[in-house]
Amino acid sequence: MKWTKKHIISIKDFSREEIDFVLEKSRIMEKRLNSNKTGSLMKDKILATLFFEPSTRTRMSFEAAIKRLGGSSIGFNLSEITSEVKGETVIDTVRIVEGYADMIVIRHPAEGSSRLASEYVEIPVMNGGDGSNQHPTQTLLDLYTIKKEFEDIDGLDISIVGDLKYGRTVHSLTNALENYDVNLKLISPDELKMPKNLVKELKDNGIEVKETNRLDLAECDVIYATRIQKERFPDLQEYERVKDAYVLNLATIQGIKDNAIIMHPLPRVTEISAEIDKTKYARYFQQARNGLPVRMALLCLVSGVRFW
Ligand code: CP
Repeated sequence: MKWTKKHIISIKDFSREEIDFVLEKSRIMEKRLNSNKTGSLMKDKILATLFFEPSTRTRMSFEAAIKRLGGSSIGFNLSEITSEVKGETVIDTVRIVEGYADMIVIRHPAEGSSRLASEYVEIPVMNGGDGSNQHPTQTLLDLYTIKKEFEDIDGLDISIVGDLKYGRTVHSLTNALENYDVNLKLISPDELKMPKNLVKELKDNGIEVKETNRLDLAECDVIYATRIQKERFPDLQEYERVKDAYVLNLATIQGIKDNAIIMHPLPRVTEISAEIDKTKYARYFQQARNGLPVRMALLCLVSGVRFW
C-alpha cells in the first residue's frame, strides 16, 4: 500500500487497509526503536505540540517520538501562556507555527479544530484530541495493543465501559472497530450512553452491538475502561451522580476470561482500582508505552520518511 495521508485528523478517514498498514509499520518501528536504529530518521525536523488542553501521554509521547527520531520539538501545554489570551485564533496560531516547524500536533477543546487547522497550513497536522470528537492516534495505539496481544482483531468480544457520551477515545475506537468483525458491548450509565449516530453506524456496518448498564464482563476478551469526563459535564451535580458508576477491582472482575486484558487510555481516577495493576489482566501502562512506536511511525509516515 502506498501511504497518501498528510494529516491525521479522524480515524474515520482511514480504511481498514490503512489502519493495518500503520499497525504493521508500528511493529517495525518498535523493533528499530529497541535496537537503537531510529536516531537519524527525522534528523533536524521540528514537531510543534500545541496543547490547548491538559495532556501527559499524548504530548510527551509525541515529544519523545520526534526526539527518538533525531528531531526536536517546540510548543506549549498551557494555552494561558500563548497569544490566545490576547484573542489570537487557532487558525492564526497554526499559520504562525508553520513558519517554525515541520509538523503540528494539536489538542483543542473545540470539536473540528484540528480539521480546521489542517485547512490553513501545508505541513502535516495531527489531531491530539478535539473535544469529545476524535483522538485518532490514541485509537491506533489501542488497536496496536490489542493486535500485539491477540494477533487478530477479528472475532474478539470487546466491552467498552464508562463515559461513552463524552469520551473521544471511545468515539474514535468504535469508529475504527467498524472495520473489523467484532462483538461490542457498550456499558455505561443511561446518562452517558454512546451517541445514537455512532451506534447506528456500527450496526449499519454489521457490528453486533449490545448496550447495557450492567457490568457483566464474563465473555470479554478486551475490557476497555474509561474515565468519566468531568470537564465536559455542563452540570457538575450530574457528574457527582455518575462518577463512581463502575469500578474495576478484584471483586468486580471476578469470573473474567483467563486471557482477557484490561485497557484504559488513562488518566484513570477511580474506575480501575490500583489492586488490578499487578494482575495479569492489566495492559494500560503497556498501552501508554505503545504510544511511542506508533507515534514515531506516524511522524515518519506523514513526512514521507521510509523506515522499512
Ligand atoms: N490518553 C490520553 O490522551 O492521555 P493524555 O490526556 O494524558 O494525553
